[in-house]
Amino acid sequence: MNLTKSIHIKALFTTAFGLLLLSSCVRDEQSPGYEYMPDMYRSPAIEAYVDYGEIRDTIRPELNLTMSARQPVEGTVPMSEYAMNDMPYSIPNTPEGYELAGEVLKSPYPQSQKIILEGTEVYANFCVQCHGAKGKGDGAVVIKGGHPAPPAYDGTLKDLSEGKMFHTITYGKGLMGSHASQISKSDRWKVIAFVKTLQNPDAQVTEQNGSEADTTGTAEMPN
Ligand code: HEC
Repeated sequence: MNLTKSIHIKALFTTAFGLLLLSSCVRDEQSPGYEYMPDMYRSPAIEAYVDYGEIRDTIRPELNLTMSARQPVEGTVPMSEYAMNDMPYSIPNTPEGYELAGEVLKSPYPQSQKIILEGTEVYANFCVQCHGAKGKGDGAVVIKGGHPAPPAYDGTLKDLSEGKMFHTITYGKGLMGSHASQISKSDRWKVIAFVKTLQNPDAQVTEQNGSEADTTGTAEMPN
């Protein structure tokens, strides 16, 4: 091979490589220079329910909805129902918390026959031994066991709000222990529906027989 030609080629390569190295020097010190795949450094912010045109399906045009998030599929558990059972109860176990619960907590269930019946079962399992079948405070634990009697539901507790009941069942009160670990939040609301019938035996029961939580009322529920 011709010696001068090989030197020329080497010189050419060295110059080209040097120029390439120099190209990484930029005048602006703040500039990041050339970015390879800038999307990896700054990912595009995608908002839900906005059409970015990422789905353009010609075979199934029904998929071409104009938003990036989809409607939940049929049978999806609503967040409120999910939150009711799986989120921690956020109201503190204080006298102020008790008052707050009375103001803000509302049952997500209608006062229907079906819910009351489901609540009766919870009551029979967890409450009747102290409170008695009619809620007079004359359960077996009181009569035979000598446990101090709870007040009657249709007596001192006649106007007790459902939110305070929920708070008491959750944390306990006085000689009544907490039932939070035994009774799910939805079952607590169901047993409250039954307790309400003992507070006011003449009160109206809704015709509506739904067992599903009324999700419209749960938005304000802070748990
Ligand atoms: C060990 C006996 C016992 C059991 C079991 C029990 N309670 Fe009580 N309960 C009491 C006593 C005693 C009180 C009175 C507490 C106080 O005011 O100091 C009470 C109070 C209450 C009150 C009034 C709370 C308030 O805010 O003043 C409600 C409502 C209530 N119980 C519902 C229930 C329900 C529902 C169950 C079943 C899930 C239940 N209790 C299980 C003994 C019991």
